[in-house]
Amino acid sequence: MELFLAIADELGFQSDHDIAALADVGPESVGNWRTGAVKEFKKQKFQAALATLRVQLQALSAQAGLGLDHDLGLSPLEIEHGSSPSDLHRQFRDQVGYDYLGHRFLYFEPQGALAWERLIKVGYEQDSWLSGVEECCERFLSTVRESGGGAKGPLAKLLGLGRRERARGLEVISLGPGEGGKEARILQHIMRALDGNRSRARYLSYVPVDVSIALLLKAAGTARDLFANKSGGLSRARLSVLPVCADFEEGSLAFASRLRGESSKPGDERRLVLFLGNVLGNVRDEEMFVKQKLGKLVRPGDALWVEVGLRSPRPEDDPLFELTMPDREETAGQANRRLLLEGPYRRYLVASGRAAGDLDLRIRVRKQDGSSRVPGSYNFCHDLLIRDEGRSVTMLYSRRYDLAQLGAWFEAMGYAVEGIHRSKDSQGRSRVGHLFLRRVGTP
Ligand SMILES: C[S@@+](CC[C@H](N)C(=O)[O-])C[C@H]1O[C@@H](n2cnc3c(N)ncnc32)[C@H](O)[C@@H]1O
Repeated sequence: MELFLAIADELGFQSDHDIAALADVGPESVGNWRTGAVKEFKKQKFQAALATLRVQLQALSAQAGLGLDHDLGLSPLEIEHGSSPSDLHRQFRDQVGYDYLGHRFLYFEPQGALAWERLIKVGYEQDSWLSGVEECCERFLSTVRESGGGAKGPLAKLLGLGRRERARGLEVISLGPGEGGKEARILQHIMRALDGNRSRARYLSYVPVDVSIALLLKAAGTARDLFANKSGGLSRARLSVLPVCADFEEGSLAFASRLRGESSKPGDERRLVLFLGNVLGNVRDEEMFVKQKLGKLVRPGDALWVEVGLRSPRPEDDPLFELTMPDREETAGQANRRLLLEGPYRRYLVASGRAAGDLDLRIRVRKQDGSSRVPGSYNFCHDLLIRDEGRSVTMLYSRRYDLAQLGAWFEAMGYAVEGIHRSKDSQGRSRVGHLFLRRVGTP
């Protein structure tokens, strides 16, 4: 009876009247259940109560999109207020007259998403960056023992691999996954590690968060396929994918209340927040972002995995530097980049019934100014020149970091550096760096 009352309460059946309806009895019976005067159901009433509870749970499960129901031809998706495509259009229109727009407007329309997918296919070295993520997975999930007895890899530690720890849930939240190719690899490695360690995880949940619905659907679909085909020793009920269309820079992060572990006791669940592909180098203000946004998602004891572009000794040595030169010949890859950056403004003009403007893209290096405050970093700032109006507006920051100085900067923000990896491009240059960080403090 206690179990029935507790479940009914969680399902929102709180008044005697509601509970009685759930078990198909009169409300006067509920008083006796609550006081403990009646401790069990009679057999027939028990079967009836079971049947109504089952119907309630099945309805909730169907509405929540649990059970990997993409086979039904549906893709469940959450959209946070203020982050829908029409909200972003409105914000673009309101901000276009100022001097900063930023990267969040680049991919929210399907055309921008397609341009991104084209960009990573040509001249972007995406294969090298995917290999870099695989190398990190090997390292971060290493179960080789440290002298203290625990696993050596920081992700293995987070998962409690190789230890007799109580089972926990793991929530993998990716901010700006794009099409989610890196996340798919990370999830695959995590599931393999859980499987090989006779899983001690209560559940594995994946939450991609992006303003681009086109890319988000891809990221979620890939993960759902992965979960449907491989289980990592976890039953389907313990694997979930919740794609969220939300703006992690300007939005309220209301989606945090929908996370699976939000109601768990501290320590029963760990989060791994992924921030890959130099998106940190794209945000307007890193310090504000880490304090005000990441601070809400990454709790003490949780992990943060950041991938960034690395600085060259001199900006002139960076492959992007060539784009700062006027009057250069444009390659196919460079043209894709320019069109991607011009796209939102061109589409805005068309949507507001105005003629295509005279536009150009200017890329310049900024350092030691308000746009690159992390010590050792510099910023390839991408500005759109709107010639008809004689002004420019910033579409994208793309910073390059010194990995050691970035680690120290995170330490000053309350994170411990537990893993570092540098990955190389096809010419053997270290261009991308990974930091595996743990938020300091007691969960
Ligand atoms: C460069 S792309 C993809 C990066 C991807 N993580 C990778 O490693 O290849 C950046 C992604 O972040 C998303 N994004 C940018 N700003 C955002 C914001 N403020 N809120 C949500 N998504 C954002 C974009 O829509 C895009 O899908």
